[in-house]
Amino acid sequence: MSSESTTKMHPQFVASEDLAQVLSKMAMSTQAIHADDFVSSHRAIAPAMHVAVNYRYARDPDQLVPGENIDPNSPLEPFVYSRYSSPNNNRFEAVLKRIFHGGIMTYSTGLAAFHAIMVLLNPKRVFIGDGYHGVHGNIDVMTKLTGVQKLSLDELDKVGPGDIIHIETPLNPTGEARNLSYYSAKAHAVGAYLTVDSTFAPPPLQDPLQFGVDVVLHSGTKYIGGHSDMMCGILVVHPDRVAEGWIDTLYAERLVMGNVMGNLEGWLGLRSLRTLELRVKRQSDTAQQLVSWIHHELRDASSEVSRVVESIRHASLQEKNIQDGWLKRQMAGGFGPVFAIWLKTPDHAKRLPSKLHIFQHATSLGDVESLIEWRAMSDSTCDERLLRISCGVEDPQDLKWDLLQGFRALCE
Ligand SMILES: Cc1ncc(COP(=O)(O)O)c(C=O)c1O
Repeated sequence: MSSESTTKMHPQFVASEDLAQVLSKMAMSTQAIHADDFVSSHRAIAPAMHVAVNYRYARDPDQLVPGENIDPNSPLEPFVYSRYSSPNNNRFEAVLKRIFHGGIMTYSTGLAAFHAIMVLLNPKRVFIGDGYHGVHGNIDVMTKLTGVQKLSLDELDKVGPGDIIHIETPLNPTGEARNLSYYSAKAHAVGAYLTVDSTFAPPPLQDPLQFGVDVVLHSGTKYIGGHSDMMCGILVVHPDRVAEGWIDTLYAERLVMGNVMGNLEGWLGLRSLRTLELRVKRQSDTAQQLVSWIHHELRDASSEVSRVVESIRHASLQEKNIQDGWLKRQMAGGFGPVFAIWLKTPDHAKRLPSKLHIFQHATSLGDVESLIEWRAMSDSTCDERLLRISCGVEDPQDLKWDLLQGFRALCE
C-alpha cells in the first residue's frame, strides 16, 4: 500500500455532520444503533475489538508533538495510552452522549463513578436516604479522608451551599420512586447540588436531567451492560454544568485516579447499547405485569400467592396514591424492572429461590436473565423476609408460571 492510500481517508469514513443532524431528531432506539457510525477508522459495521493500551508515536521526529495521534475519523481524543482514551470506549461514550442528552464520563464500576462525584464536588455534607448500601460505604471512606458528614433526608433544613443531596430513584431493593422535582428545588434554593442514582431506571424509563438534576449516576453493570458480563459506571452531567467545565474536571481527575473502564468493557457496552431500549421496555413491562398479578392475588386471602407472600412494593403501586402525577411525569417510560416481595416467614424467603427453574438466585440486576435474591445474602441489615426480583427478557407468562409453582412448592 502506498503511504498516500494509508493516510488519505475515504470520504465514507469521515465523521458525518449530516448524520448527527438527522439523528438528533430520531428516537433513542435509532440513536443507540447509529450514533457511532463514523467514530471508526474502518468501514466495518460492527465495532472492532481494540485492546491496545498504548499507541506508537510518530516516526518522523519533526512530528513528535504530544497528543498528535488524532484519528480523523474518531476525533474525540488523541490515542496515547488507554487511561486517557481508547477507541472502544470513545465509541461507547459517543452513543451514551446521544441517548442520555448530557456530558458523559465512564468508569470502571458504578461505585467508582459515585466516588468521582465525591472527588469532583468535595462536599462538607451529603444528605442521603435509603438505597444501595455500597454508596453509603463509599461516603464512609470519604469521611475518613475529608471529614464529610452523612446526614439523612429528614434533615434537609440543614442543607447549605456546596452540599450534596443524593437521591436514589427507584430505590434498591424495593423499586419505589422518589420525587426529583422536590429535591431539586430543595438543593438549588440554597446552592447545593442534586445527584441522582438512576441505575434502576435507565433510558427510556426516566430522564433525571429534565428535573434539574446536576449529575446522574448509573451502575452500567446493570441495564447498560445487561448481559451479566461487564462492570461499568456512568456519570451524565447536566449541559449547564458541562458548560461550567465539570466534564473537563472529571476527565482530568479520572486520568490520575485511574478508575477508567477497561477496553473490552467498551466493546461489550456497545454491543449492549444496541438493544437497551428493547430490553428495558420489555423488562419494565414484565415487572408491571408480575406486580399487578401478585398485588391482585394478595387481595384474596385464600389465594395461593397469599399463602406465601405478605406484601409487595414497586413504583407502579405508589402511582395510585400520588395526587399531582409527578411519578408518571418522572417515569414516563415505565416504572422499572425491579420489585420486592416480603414473604410471610424468613424461612420461606430463604427457600423460594431454590424452588424456581427460570429465575437465577444471584445478586445484581438488569440482566437479560431474570434474577431473584434473598437480599439478606448481600445486605446484612435487610429484613430476612425480603426477596428482590429483577425481571429479564424471558416470556412474562413463563416467569409467572415459575413464581407460582415456586409458591406452591413452598406449601407442600
Ligand atoms: C443502585 C445502585 N447504585 C450503584 C451500584 C454500584 O454499582 P457497581 O456494582 O457497578 O459498582 C449498585 C450495585 O448494585 C446499585 O444497585
